[in-house]
Amino acid sequence: MRAVVLVGGFGTRLRPLTNNTPKPMLPVGHHSIIESVVSQLARGGISEVVLALGFRPEPFVAAFPDGTCAGIPLTYAVEPEPLDTAGAIRFAAMAAGIDGTFVVVNGDVICDVDVAALVAFHHSSGAEGTLHLTAVENPSAFGVVVLDGSGVVQRFVEKPAPGTETSNLVNAGTYVLEPSVIERIPDGRKVSVEREVFPLMVADRTLFGLATDDYWLDTGQPHLYLRANLDLLDGRRQHERCAAVAPGATVAPSATIRHSVVGEGAVVGDGALVEDSVLLPGASVGDGARVRDSIVAGSVGAWASLLSCVVGSTATVAEGLELTGARVPDPTA
Ligand code: GDD
Ligand code: MG
Repeated sequence: MRAVVLVGGFGTRLRPLTNNTPKPMLPVGHHSIIESVVSQLARGGISEVVLALGFRPEPFVAAFPDGTCAGIPLTYAVEPEPLDTAGAIRFAAMAAGIDGTFVVVNGDVICDVDVAALVAFHHSSGAEGTLHLTAVENPSAFGVVVLDGSGVVQRFVEKPAPGTETSNLVNAGTYVLEPSVIERIPDGRKVSVEREVFPLMVADRTLFGLATDDYWLDTGQPHLYLRANLDLLDGRRQHERCAAVAPGATVAPSATIRHSVVGEGAVVGDGALVEDSVLLPGASVGDGARVRDSIVAGSVGAWASLLSCVVGSTATVAEGLELTGARVPDPTA
């Protein structure tokens, strides 16, 4: 079975990390998010992946030069301009000639869902579309779903105003779809699957949902991206785990790395402390610097102190500077 992976968003909420790197190419542990997504699809019986891109395919093509990711053959569908989620599904499915049941995944979701079980449920219920659902504490940040006792979706509301949610079950971003869904998507304009297509299917009672309580996380915000890394380190994932320090990182013997992921080629100087943090490949932390609850892709000067900060790959934090809750460079400036 084939899967369309949506990777065309701008990753706005993760800026400045996504200034030069598409969100799905950021590492979780020592592999990219997209590799984690495709590995999970492969475990669930997916044999080919179509990457649906709204812009800039180059970083993906460069990362997977032999046309495979996690052992799965990849093809690319590059929209002439971003078509939003349903437009992207339609464009990719047409480009790949999909004419049978297929899977769609949001390319920024890390989860342990059993895709084969989702497909089996889809077939047994005779659904036109089946959504993977998960329970969360802040449903208004997601697509909120109300299910009836037989698994039929009764309501789908994308990002309702806080306090107006009618359920804590949300769209977890993995779908099993029949090709008839493609015919529901108007051609040649932006179409949101969450705001336009799912509500139509709800009205026709052809949209089903299956809730699971396995590991699930949308990596699209800094604190969640950080958590995805630390969860992998802490062994919270079913199939994957990562070492704290990549073999190609250089950590001074007098530095302290506590509950953190240090990527390939990262450098940590004498006496530095890195705690509850992620250093991306190529990051550097100067002598005596303190980095806590932060994500660093660029360079932190000696004796600087960071708490809950995000430092982009082209940024340098000056020596001795103390920052709390900052993004460097500031994406809103
Ligand atoms: N190809 C393409 N073209 N992909 C796109 C486009 C586009 O125009 N717009 C967004 N995407 C991709 C993003 O790259 C991402 O992988 C996926 O579609 C979802 O977009 P996000 O921007 O991450 O959406 P969200 O996280 O706010 O909400 C979505 O995911 C939630 C679960 O994590 C929705 O599907 C919610 O209903 C859902 O609960
Ligand atoms: Mg998202």
